[in-house]
Amino acid sequence: MKLVIVMLGLCCYSALASAGDNSKGKELFQTNCAACHGEHGEGKHGVAPRLAGDASRWSLKLFERAVLSGVDDNGRKLKLMMPHWQNGSFKGDNGNAPSKEEIAAIHQYLKHPR
Ligand code: HEC
Repeated sequence: MKLVIVMLGLCCYSALASAGDNSKGKELFQTNCAACHGEHGEGKHGVAPRLAGDASRWSLKLFERAVLSGVDDNGRKLKLMMPHWQNGSFKGDNGNAPSKEEIAAIHQYLKHPR
C-alpha cells in the first residue's frame, strides 16, 4: 500500500512539473529569439513578427520546420533575416544543433509566455 502511495506521488509530481514549468523554453527563447521577436514573442515592429498567439498555434511539426529550415506554415520561404537554425546552434549549446526537445520547449513557452 505504501508503495502505491509513493508511486502516485511521483507520477503526479512529474506531471505537474512538466505542465507548469516553462522555464527552459523561456530561457531558450529569450537568449536566442527575443532580440528580434520581442521579449515575450509579441513581435517587434519592422523587425520580426509576433509568435505568441500565431506561430505558437501551429502544429509542433510546422513550428519546427520554420525554426530549422525557414519555411512558414504555408510553405513560403522566410526572409533570410530569420536564421535557419539547422545550420546553427542555440547560445550555450556548444555548437550542437538545436534538439527537437528544445524547439518543443520554445513552442510550449510561446503558448503561455510571461
Ligand atoms: C535576427 C532576427 C531573428 C532571430 C534571432 C529569430 N528570428 Fe524568427 N523571424 C525573423 C524574421 C525577420 C521573420 C519573418 C521572416 C519573413 O516574414 O519572411 C521570422 C519568422 C519566424 C517564424 C515564422 C513566423 C510567421 O508567422 O510566419 C517563426 C516560427 C520564427 N521566426 C521563430 C523563431 C524562433 C523560435 C527563434 C529563436 C530560436 C527565432 N525565430 C529567432 C527574425 C528572427
